[in-house]
Amino acid sequence: IYRSTSSTTLPSFLLVGPSGAGKTTLLTLFERGQHAETRTSQAPLVVEVSLPVSTKAASSRYRSVNDPSNQFHKKFLLADTPGHGKLRHHAFDSVIKPQNLKGIIFMVDAADISVWHSDTGNDPLRQAAEYLHDMLLLLQKRFTSSKTSKAPKELPVLIAANKLDLFTALPAPLVKTALESEISNVRSSRTKGLLDSGIGMNELDIGEEKDWLGDGGDGKFEFSQMDEVNVAVSVAGGNVLGADGPDSKELGLGLSWVL
Ligand code: GTP
Ligand code: MG
Repeated sequence: IYRSTSSTTLPSFLLVGPSGAGKTTLLTLFERGQHAETRTSQAPLVVEVSLPVSTKAASSRYRSVNDPSNQFHKKFLLADTPGHGKLRHHAFDSVIKPQNLKGIIFMVDAADISVWHSDTGNDPLRQAAEYLHDMLLLLQKRFTSSKTSKAPKELPVLIAANKLDLFTALPAPLVKTALESEISNVRSSRTKGLLDSGIGMNELDIGEEKDWLGDGGDGKFEFSQMDEVNVAVSVAGGNVLGADGPDSKELGLGLSWVL
């Protein structure tokens, strides 16, 4: 029974992902019902937001309309984090911190990851994959290093392919496969990095078990491999800009799925 809506009991969602993905734009949309100019974030920001009454959480499907938990779920905390490579510790800290964390939204710019900038050598897909790899590895460790016999509760991770309003954007299913195969590359180059650094084979064995993302096999990484460590990854596409409010269809980012 939740009589008070003190912020410690509110379910919270964490927004992570590379710089420029649209995280703060989404937060602003939830907070004000409209989007506003954003600039690149330098600090995390947590706001209390509520879903419009018309929005039904996927989990409330089988609940009666009068169920008080329907009310409870409409308010939640949304935590925005900076995407810049040097500021990602904020996002990693937020995962470890004990709280009522209900889900993580990893947002990517679906148009950006489809290009490789040959002039600067900047590879947005690689960068997104490295960030996501590290985030998923952290969640995997949270499960494998859990001391108690009770494993951590299932945590949904929604990969939000944003900016689908841009015609160069990759559709969500392609964002999924692109990230999966790039994460496979990240995974093997991390291991190769360890070998090159002259770490003995014995040490590597230990390291490998702990730092190898996904199932033990050396095949391709797939998000479904995260099921084993109670992390349910799904991918949805949408666009924050051009959406009229957090319940609008264009947003399509499946927040209600996470709830
Ligand atoms: P950091 O704070 O640096 O981590 O980035 P961020 O993820 O918070 O990005 P932000 O919300 O500041 O958005 C970056 C830019 O993308 C802004 O100019 C937004 O207007 C734009 N943007 C956000 N969502 C969309 C979208 O759905 N479509 C298009 N076309 N542009 C968008
Ligand atoms: Mg931001």
